[in-house]
Amino acid sequence: MNRIGVLSGGGDCPGINAVIRGIVLRAAKYGAGVVGFRRGWQGLLDGGRTTLLGLDDVEEIHSLGGTIIGTSRTDPFAPPDGADQVMKNFARHECAGLVVIGGEKTLAHAYRFHRLGLPVVGVPKTIDNNVGSTDCTFGFLTAANTATEAIDRLVTTAKSQGRALVVQVMGHNSGWLALFAGIAGGAHQVLIPEVPFDVAQVCDRVKKRFTNGNDFAVVVVAEGARPADPKSLDITEPPSPDGREDGVAKALAEAITRQTGIKAHHVALGTLQRGGSPSAFDRVLGMRMGLKAAELVQEGKFGMMVALRCTDIVAVPLEDAVRQSKTVPDALWREVVQLI
Ligand code: F6P
Repeated sequence: MNRIGVLSGGGDCPGINAVIRGIVLRAAKYGAGVVGFRRGWQGLLDGGRTTLLGLDDVEEIHSLGGTIIGTSRTDPFAPPDGADQVMKNFARHECAGLVVIGGEKTLAHAYRFHRLGLPVVGVPKTIDNNVGSTDCTFGFLTAANTATEAIDRLVTTAKSQGRALVVQVMGHNSGWLALFAGIAGGAHQVLIPEVPFDVAQVCDRVKKRFTNGNDFAVVVVAEGARPADPKSLDITEPPSPDGREDGVAKALAEAITRQTGIKAHHVALGTLQRGGSPSAFDRVLGMRMGLKAAELVQEGKFGMMVALRCTDIVAVPLEDAVRQSKTVPDALWREVVQLI
């Protein structure tokens, strides 16, 4: 083997650089070089957008947020000849395999390419923690820490000023981030996509806190959380082209103000949740996943994804991992909401 290819796709996430470092370190042991395709699948569609990665290039990158090879949400199957272009361009670089670092969509593309004959290995990356077949994705716990820190700050100001605050965190189809940051940050209500909420009940609980003498309230809501009755909340903002939905916290704050007479403010934490340096856990997890991914390429075990199982890094079929999103299990939801 003389080369391994790597790309990162989807939203960036703390820990991608640690994965890249792990790949380069293990590739060096095999005497192999690493080719980084820039900006996700776009780099392979374009063909020429590559960076050669050696030991010196990855010396201190494990502590850096983002990804040194860039990322994008490019769908390689969108152009009619996209798949052919990717296959041809990959072949030109003479890599033994391609490590695809990505979330649900990027890994689904990887699986499709695997079926077309591309030698791929997946690495699960997302702050949403919603990739199946792994206990956890790297980046999730760093993002949960970042969101918790923001909620801590918001709690002190809500308490001082006697305010109701609705804080929106990411999580399009899963509530992991809302659940972890909400509980860790001491939110008084947490709303997640998996469990449709009742607007009147949310308002009622806010009002109760104010009438019980706790004259402040913090509600954490995942961007994809929705009321059971769609007509009970007026979410006017359309989703962004990437699928991000920004309207729920604003609409909920307006409903609370209207229905309780308590002025509620809203804050969408947005992009800041994915920025910054990875936690020690995510650096170690990322590096271990990178090492394992390079090993799988060396062993010719393609169509697999690296995964965390308890404390072990294992290989699982990509097909299983992309079959469905990993949402918050009902039992966990019930267990933790009792804390509120
Ligand atoms: O990475 C997935 C995700 O966090 C979704 O929860 C969210 O909808 C989207 O990314 C937002 O992406 P961006 O930061 O590019 O707007």
